[in-house]
Amino acid sequence: MTDTHTHILPAMDDGAASVEESLKLLSALALQGVNQVAATPHFKPSTNESIDSFLARRNESEALLRQAMEGRTDLPQLHIGTEVTLSVELSQFEGLEKLCYKNGNFLLIELDPFTVGSWIPRALYDISNRLLLTPVIAHIDRYLGDDVSPKLIEEIMKLNCPVQFNGYALAKFNKRRQLLKIMNRHPDTIFVVGSDCHNIHLRPPAMDVFEKKAMKHLGEDFFDEICENSRLMLTGELIT
Ligand SMILES: [Fe+2]
Repeated sequence: MTDTHTHILPAMDDGAASVEESLKLLSALALQGVNQVAATPHFKPSTNESIDSFLARRNESEALLRQAMEGRTDLPQLHIGTEVTLSVELSQFEGLEKLCYKNGNFLLIELDPFTVGSWIPRALYDISNRLLLTPVIAHIDRYLGDDVSPKLIEEIMKLNCPVQFNGYALAKFNKRRQLLKIMNRHPDTIFVVGSDCHNIHLRPPAMDVFEKKAMKHLGEDFFDEICENSRLMLTGELIT
């Protein structure tokens, strides 16, 4: 399997605090059957950190982790991306394209529940049409049923961006029901999966749970399709 969304880079954000913890998360993912994983640390425009300063920190953290992974053939292959929080003016950020997954033009974008509003579809549209980047909506399951109105979710879905969901959401009855509804209503949307793991104890990876629940509730073909789309997104070969 492929995990498109994690916080495994050491000391980058609210994810892994150290290289040791990063390695534990990678080992856990490998045991769960993951062979490709993307590290997607948070970039939040509200912190006023520049993209270049963020990338300098990310490069340093990535280098530390890669050094520690050297010779470890038991660990998944590491890809790099960013989880960017959407803001009204995000499309005007100089160098936004540098935050895409390293292969291709896919940009993982999360919504901030405190600023959710009708401006969101336009901001996403600007990113895809002005900058020609492909927004990937991060953990859509998180917005179903609470923070975001169903009408707004529909407007976002109509933009036809790839949509990432957290695999573990399939283990929760209500989230699963809402997710299945969205999947059925939008059969042409590309869905990719991530664990969104942050640490070993409180927010651990659970891709084994995803596999089990997806096989049961989505069926083997759709499970395979999600896994393949996830892999192709990281290699930059996904056609949208
Ligand atoms: Fe995340």
